[in-house]
Amino acid sequence: MIDDITQATEEALKAIQTASDLAELDRAAAEMLGKRGALGVLKSSLSKVADIDERKNLGRALNDAMSAVNEALATHRANLVTEERLRRVEAERLDLTEFPSAPSRGHLHLVTQAWQHLEDVFVGLGFTVAEGPEVETDWYNFEALNMGEGHPARGEFDTLFVGHDAAEKPGDSGLLLRTHTSPVQIRTMLESEPPIYIVAPGRVFRRDTPDATHMPVFHQIEGLVVDRGITMAHLAGTIEAFTHAFFGPGFTSRLRPSYFPFTEPSAEFDIRRPDGSWLELGGCGMVHPEVLRAGGVDPEEWSGFAFGFGIDRMAVMRHSVSDIRDMYSNDIRFIEQF
Ligand code: PHE
Repeated sequence: MIDDITQATEEALKAIQTASDLAELDRAAAEMLGKRGALGVLKSSLSKVADIDERKNLGRALNDAMSAVNEALATHRANLVTEERLRRVEAERLDLTEFPSAPSRGHLHLVTQAWQHLEDVFVGLGFTVAEGPEVETDWYNFEALNMGEGHPARGEFDTLFVGHDAAEKPGDSGLLLRTHTSPVQIRTMLESEPPIYIVAPGRVFRRDTPDATHMPVFHQIEGLVVDRGITMAHLAGTIEAFTHAFFGPGFTSRLRPSYFPFTEPSAEFDIRRPDGSWLELGGCGMVHPEVLRAGGVDPEEWSGFAFGFGIDRMAVMRHSVSDIRDMYSNDIRFIEQF
């Protein structure tokens, strides 16, 4: 009978080892340890052994066998549980690298890119960044810039007025959407003492019908320097330094005589591309003494220069965009290119 016990134990242990999942193991355990299992049958036949010492020995052997089988069961069960969990984790794993590509990130608008690049270049040249409101008074936008009421140059700015009865009474300073960033010149001079070295980028508005080169809303960057002994040479030198820093070493600039009510003398500045072609960029000049005075600056003590040009234009040029309206069409196929 002792051989039967050894054999039943070996078989039980083998059945346990070969069970490949928990269900199979449970089935094997029931078979082996149950009353009708090999060990169970041996256990119930124990009472038929007459010799008391032999019965004792067999009983001990059976108990040892049972606990060996139970231990093996517990160990294998634990292994199977771990294995099963690993299998489930593996099966439920989401492989995120399997997505065709990472979701695409957006980017700043073409004009914002140019705006920030311009700010960077001017900050690098020692300027600080100023700003002013988009809704302006007639005084800041025109009057203080040496364009009093009835000045013919006002006609060149197709102004959008805010409120039909603005400035109805004589002496009223009506509200309008600023037609250029030049009013920031006045605001800066009134707010701070010279020396002044600022650039003022921002949105400006004109009553224009959109076409390939015009938008009723566009962007400018204004520059203002007020210090002692500032001359036209400083203006030309600043424009040239800016040209190199922004466009690259192959580019140069020139000033061409022009007229603006708020600068005297006035000029337009052009950029020469490496291929020799010229590009009109903006207006500039020495700040008119009347403008300095409007800003609370004594023209006997201080002089200054100012410049202003379109940011949208620069963006369009840099990327050879043929129609300025495309930049505001919100057509993702266009915007994504830059
Ligand atoms: N404000 C002018 C314009 O909008 C540009 C300019 C700025 C000219 C400063 C001279 C000096 O056209």
